[in-house]
Amino acid sequence: MAFSDVNLTRARDIVARYPRPKSAILPLAHLAQDQDGWLTAEAMEEIAVLTGVTPAEVQGTCSFYTMFKRRPCGSLLVSVCTNVTCLVTGGPAILRHLTERYGDDDDVTVEEVECLAACGGAPALQVNYEYHEQLTPEIAEALVDDYKAGRRTPRTISGAQR
Ligand code: FES
Repeated sequence: MAFSDVNLTRARDIVARYPRPKSAILPLAHLAQDQDGWLTAEAMEEIAVLTGVTPAEVQGTCSFYTMFKRRPCGSLLVSVCTNVTCLVTGGPAILRHLTERYGDDDDVTVEEVECLAACGGAPALQVNYEYHEQLTPEIAEALVDDYKAGRRTPRTISGAQR
């Protein structure tokens, strides 16, 4: 079983809310990711059983959305934009700096992402999907350190408030 007993009950409740079980794939993927911190193959197989589709369909649906992680993540997911506006305002330098700084830190996962729709505040990043803008490498590092030290409260990886 991929889901815990409590979450399996929740998952069944979620499926029951939809006229077609298949419509529950994404909410169940969020539930699984909240439980494990990422979307495991076992969770996708169980979601397939619960929604009456094949595991490949669940995988195909979930792989479209970058918010679903296919590998274990730290409790802090730092998503650095390097798309056009952030590219010319320092996004790549922030990405490089944070990747070097936290590369060996199991608590922090740094990823490169496409436009976060915060171009007016570029360069931008998100920590567990919370926006931060007009950054430098140094400010970004201080920001992540604040989260690590508990001076800021992170959301869950799925975006829900703790
Ligand atoms: S290009 Fe970075 S937020 Fe749009």
